[in-house]
Amino acid sequence: MRIYKAKDEAEMSRKAANIISAQIILKPDSVLGLATGSSPIGTYKQLIDWYNKGDLDFSQITAVNLDEYQGLAPDNDQSYAYFMKEHLFSHVNINPANCFIEDGLAEDPGAECIRYTELIRGLGGIDLQLLGLGPNAHIGFNEPGEALEKDTHLVKLKETTIKANSRFFASEDEVPKYAFTMGIKAIMQARCIVLVANGEAKAEALYKCICGTISSEAPASLLQLHNNVFVVADEAALSLVEKEIPIDKEVTI
Ligand code: GLP
Repeated sequence: MRIYKAKDEAEMSRKAANIISAQIILKPDSVLGLATGSSPIGTYKQLIDWYNKGDLDFSQITAVNLDEYQGLAPDNDQSYAYFMKEHLFSHVNINPANCFIEDGLAEDPGAECIRYTELIRGLGGIDLQLLGLGPNAHIGFNEPGEALEKDTHLVKLKETTIKANSRFFASEDEVPKYAFTMGIKAIMQARCIVLVANGEAKAEALYKCICGTISSEAPASLLQLHNNVFVVADEAALSLVEKEIPIDKEVTI
């Protein structure tokens, strides 16, 4: 695991975008696993900026998103499909036919999970997976629990997640109670993983991710088992980790 310490969110975003750019340049037809939430927004902005300068080409890229709320249509402005259009897809030359996400309105959720799992398998897996970090150390919507599901599945969201994500909705009641998420297997089989985390609210989860016991009670801790993970985080998010692992600018552990 390589950890990069950024002084703030802007530096974190630039660094993460750098790694993603390298992937796109070296393999223009990469399968990118993408994430939503506030953490990757700056990274997407930076990628758009470099695209506008002519430095990046998304024309051969395939995107598979981690998760989607159940019950939200793609044109609902709280859906993750909408988020991706808003924050990345509509600003670059990615082919919309190559942008995939679970169907929040699927009538048969079980069949939708199988479809999405098979889709990722059919693409040959993920070249680079971008991840945010839930305050309870979830990745995608793989919530802490006794066991982790390996394939795409429907999750009952934890109260803490509903609370954390309610900041994007008019009220807590409006946050969907269920979501589809890519399973842990597709994430862990990604050939490269980039996790972004910023702010003090992520310090505990990031500590569990980097230094904690490997446990399904902290899904992000599984990343310790992956051999090509970049954690890009700001000083505030790394504050607890740094009590155990001194980090100048970057460190490989
Ligand atoms: C959500 C998403 C995750 C995301 C996490 C953190 O629950 N399902 O994919 O990483 O929240 O979000 P944020 O970056 O807004 O803190």
